[in-house]
Amino acid sequence: MIKIALAGFGTVGQGVMDLFQRRKESICERLGKEIDISYVLVRDSAKRRDIDFYGAKVVSEIRDILQDEGVKIVMEATGDIDLGYLLIKEALKKKKHVISANKSVLSLHFEELSTLAQDNEVYLLYEASVGGGTPLIKPLQDLSLHGEIRSIQAVLSGSCNYVLSKMQNEQVSYGDAIEEAKKLGYLEADPIDDVGGFDTRRKLRILSTLSFQGKIEEKDITLEGITGLMQEDISRLSQMGYAVRLVARAFKDSHSIQAAVHPAALPIGSFLGSLEGAENGVVCVGDHFGKVSFQGMGAGRYPTAHAMLSDLEDVLFSLRRKQGPPLKTDLAIVPYRKSMRFYIRSAEPMELAIDKKVDEHVWITAPVAYDKFKLALPRGAVGIAICK
Ligand SMILES: NC(=O)c1ccc[n+]([C@@H]2O[C@H](COP(=O)([O-])OP(=O)(O)OC[C@H]3O[C@@H](n4cnc5c(N)ncnc54)[C@H](OP(=O)(O)O)[C@@H]3O)[C@@H](O)[C@H]2O)c1
Repeated sequence: MIKIALAGFGTVGQGVMDLFQRRKESICERLGKEIDISYVLVRDSAKRRDIDFYGAKVVSEIRDILQDEGVKIVMEATGDIDLGYLLIKEALKKKKHVISANKSVLSLHFEELSTLAQDNEVYLLYEASVGGGTPLIKPLQDLSLHGEIRSIQAVLSGSCNYVLSKMQNEQVSYGDAIEEAKKLGYLEADPIDDVGGFDTRRKLRILSTLSFQGKIEEKDITLEGITGLMQEDISRLSQMGYAVRLVARAFKDSHSIQAAVHPAALPIGSFLGSLEGAENGVVCVGDHFGKVSFQGMGAGRYPTAHAMLSDLEDVLFSLRRKQGPPLKTDLAIVPYRKSMRFYIRSAEPMELAIDKKVDEHVWITAPVAYDKFKLALPRGAVGIAICK
């Protein structure tokens, strides 16, 4: 019997249990072995809950999972940074395979945990951590093996998509769109992690590290959220044929990498510009394979649980490589200085070459590097990059 421990029994954890129960028989048949989720870890195991645990032992101490040598796989969906890190680290040290949805832990400790997994010859898989149900990690790992990945451009925040599409489609204010998103459960009471771009930056840290096979940490990624945008900016850009989205972008040339998360005006109807609600999308360009795009549900119980179950199959049937290529050590992280045109709304004059005046206090600049543009932007002004 292969025992599995499931840490976290909230939105994602319960989805994992549900899908596992539906597929268990088929997996066991193909595998020729019995498998079961034997433990479920929650904060308070004594709390009465009206949920079916399918016979799993409900525990609150990670040592219950770690000490059981029959537990070969830990599926982690707690979202807790300290506990998640400790559990993943200790499980890997005990040669248990780990499947995690915890992007915060992966972003903070990616290199350490990956090395630990390799040294202990076990899997550390994390498809659900970025893009929810959209397969990204596995295909990007494969693409980067035989074709140098040159760029990633992505929309990775369903909640920001929701706010921005609501502002665009229903002409509501930023504040009203935020309140609606909170009511529907798309945003936390304090939404800064999403609208400040921090969540998207974690995901870009994971995707770009994998794709470029170098170390790109959160601090290396220029960050700008959507908090400064107003209804009038979204409407004006919409009339000009653009949809505003929070984008994650990373580029690599021979020896340098630049990466950023920022709002961007994208052509309405373009692949990334047409993503709405919880949809995520990634466009990846590389040598040999050209351009590849992925689109899917970035969050939600079943899409995310499906990604974890897909990793589980790969662990059970040993379908993945345990040893990735060595990290490239000759890559330099340079400031984000992509040259683009920018939409500007400013009450004050500025020293920037202008392509076009749109309205009183509103202009489109000539192409200018992002870092130079930011330095020249007057205080209180709004600037939105126009991307292809
Ligand atoms: N929700 C999504 O759509 C989605 C999409 C992609 C990735 N993810 C990631 O998946 C993970 C889980 O998200 P979720 O939405 O399922 O969270 P959630 O609904 O808040 O559930 C969290 C679960 O983990 C347990 N837990 C949290 N801290 C714990 C601790 N210190 N000790 C023991 N148990 C603890 C909670 O226990 P109690 O039940 O006792 O409170 C709860 O069962 C997060 O890393 C999140 O970023 C989520």
